[in-house]
Amino acid sequence: AAVEKGNYRHYMQKEIFEQPIVVAQTLQSYVRPFEGKIALPDIDLDLAGVNRVTIVACGTSFYAGMVAKYWIEQFARVPVDIDVASEFRYRDPVMEDGGLALFISQSGETADTLAALAYAKEQKQVIAAVINVPTSTMAREADIVLPTHAGPEIGVASTKAFTCQLAVLAAFAANLARAKGKMSEEEEADLVAHLREVPETLNQALDHDEDIASMAHLVAPARDVLYLGRGQDYPLAMEGALKLKEISYIHAEGYASGEMKHGPIALIDDKVPVIVLAPSGPLFEKTVSNMQEVAARGGKIILISDAKGIAEAGEGCMATIEMPEAHPLIQPIVYAVPVQLLAYHVAVAKGTDVDQPRNLAKSVTVE
Ligand code: G6P
Repeated sequence: AAVEKGNYRHYMQKEIFEQPIVVAQTLQSYVRPFEGKIALPDIDLDLAGVNRVTIVACGTSFYAGMVAKYWIEQFARVPVDIDVASEFRYRDPVMEDGGLALFISQSGETADTLAALAYAKEQKQVIAAVINVPTSTMAREADIVLPTHAGPEIGVASTKAFTCQLAVLAAFAANLARAKGKMSEEEEADLVAHLREVPETLNQALDHDEDIASMAHLVAPARDVLYLGRGQDYPLAMEGALKLKEISYIHAEGYASGEMKHGPIALIDDKVPVIVLAPSGPLFEKTVSNMQEVAARGGKIILISDAKGIAEAGEGCMATIEMPEAHPLIQPIVYAVPVQLLAYHVAVAKGTDVDQPRNLAKSVTVE
């Protein structure tokens, strides 16, 4: 049956609001709540033997992969290479035995990602794929399919597929960590408890919809917007910038906070909104000091953080968006919501075609 918009104005809006449900649906096949365990569905793969993970994807799926790189290295201590598929497929990458190649794709039909997969297969890698369309070419080609259960995604700008990918990748990282002896049973049970709270946490994030709508006029007139984040929030900054440029046609860049002084700070003046993703935690002070460098040059800051972070650093910001606190393997899933909503409301304010932005295709099946 055709997918309906229901009471929503756009598919993208509907898909943003579906996230608590579809992420929960996805997690159901990865989490065994009563045993306090995370298990990948139908897989008898000995992850303990994996000595390197290579992640390849395009677009939003690539940014999900970048978050996973931080997670896999931090929690499982397995080295991760990551590349966009269009680069990977032509650079003759070195792939040694014992490697697992992980492809991430909503459609499972992206031409460059499929070509990269074929290369990794020739290189005798174990091929795993995080896919939303179970009948896709990529799902057929992979040794192991790690499905997302986001349901059909109609809006060209990916939203719910991204958070479902992150949920699967969090489960994958935790599973690998467990197989590698880097995550204790207690830590696993604790993570499972946190994963069960994800839908509720996403609902809390979505409760800020109206606040964020009221900020759209702060961003809509801008020519350039900068997104800053550190660690696992750096890919989120890039995803935020991608969402904004895709649907509002405003030039936006996502940058690693600490790298800003090597170039983009030259762009800052009082016409450049700067979106800072800074949950409290070990990297908070570092990101805030980068934020202050922006403020000192007149940059107008929208700070996305939790209550503690906003209490510490919210003063002087043009606006703040308060997110619930979350486990590191959940926090990027939650912070995806405000950047999606901000892009959405800015695009609505500008009157662009949110679901069918110019020049873009839902799935890029030619090179
Ligand atoms: C296109 C879409 C993006 C998507 C990318 C990768 O550019 O517009 O939203 O992230 O392709 O697509 P995939 O289906 O491989 O995730």
